[in-house]
Amino acid sequence: MAEIGVDILKCKRILEYNQLIGFPTETVYGLAGNALSVEAVSKIFETKNRPTFDPLICHTNSIAQIEKYVTEIPTMGYDLLTKFAPGPITLLLKRKNLIPDLVTSGLEHVAFRIPNHPIALELLKHIDFPLAAPSANPFGYISPTSAAHVNTQLGNFISYILNGGKCSVGIESTIVGFENNKAHIYRLGGIDLAAIEHITGRTIVQQSTSKPSAAGMLESHYAPRKKIYVGHIDNLIEKYKNHKIGVLSFSKKYNFCQNLQLSENKSETEAAQNLFGHLRSLDESDCEIIIAEYITEKGLGKAVNDRLKRAST
Ligand code: TXA
Ligand code: MG
Repeated sequence: MAEIGVDILKCKRILEYNQLIGFPTETVYGLAGNALSVEAVSKIFETKNRPTFDPLICHTNSIAQIEKYVTEIPTMGYDLLTKFAPGPITLLLKRKNLIPDLVTSGLEHVAFRIPNHPIALELLKHIDFPLAAPSANPFGYISPTSAAHVNTQLGNFISYILNGGKCSVGIESTIVGFENNKAHIYRLGGIDLAAIEHITGRTIVQQSTSKPSAAGMLESHYAPRKKIYVGHIDNLIEKYKNHKIGVLSFSKKYNFCQNLQLSENKSETEAAQNLFGHLRSLDESDCEIIIAEYITEKGLGKAVNDRLKRAST
């Protein structure tokens, strides 16, 4: 298994050798390597068992750093960064050739974000390259929100996990691209869509697809190994009464079966924080199937429901 600790200089050394580390952010933990090194980036794809048509997000600690790797940031992009960075927002920007093809799967845009986590920012300050970091889970599985989650799944493939505690947001960043002066949302995430639209005006939310050519939008994702059904919990319990059921509810408590609640006091923000950890716990428990319900679509509710939908597809 990997060592878990807070040694920034050790992380720097590992990364300079083109090796990978577990990397904490406010959204989920990443599997990080030097984004400018084809060797390191290849290891990311191999370790995650991720198809190379699915591009990676790069992480830096300032807008000035992003400017080094992209040809331009549209005004709307600056506005979003000024308002939300560091934070759970990723921008798709025209890349310079410094960014290897492998990082973007050959696309002309590269995804960049500034994570809002003190130890992640501290590490980024110590290195002179951006970190490519997809979520630190095997491709298609639930994203990790603690160092222990990373260790369980990828601990045999990496030597060190930088410990940043439990992720404060709990779901991945919102991905925004720009076309013809309009903002397009490629993935709902840790920032409320209404807050983004307050700055950009109406956005175009892209639908996910099972066609790999539309990068970033694979339909089936975030999935537990067990079958998960999302809908009206009482009806589903009736339908699957011959199975050992695990229930992932929003606020209601179910006493007669295994049950985890996303937020006792009906907070969509808290539901996002607990979503992946609870899904993981149920997946590791002795229930046979998981039954869940959609939550109210306020705040991060839309993004939580997007993950539930994809987990059940
Ligand atoms: O919150 C996050 O964004 C986390 C943390 C670790 O930063 N990262 C993350 O990475 O969720 P990953 O690889 O699990 O998801 C990144 C998504 C993928 O669906 C990928 O296809 C999309 O971003 N993406 C990356 N670069 C892209 C590009 N140039 N164009 C379109 N989509 C892109
Ligand atoms: Mg992921």
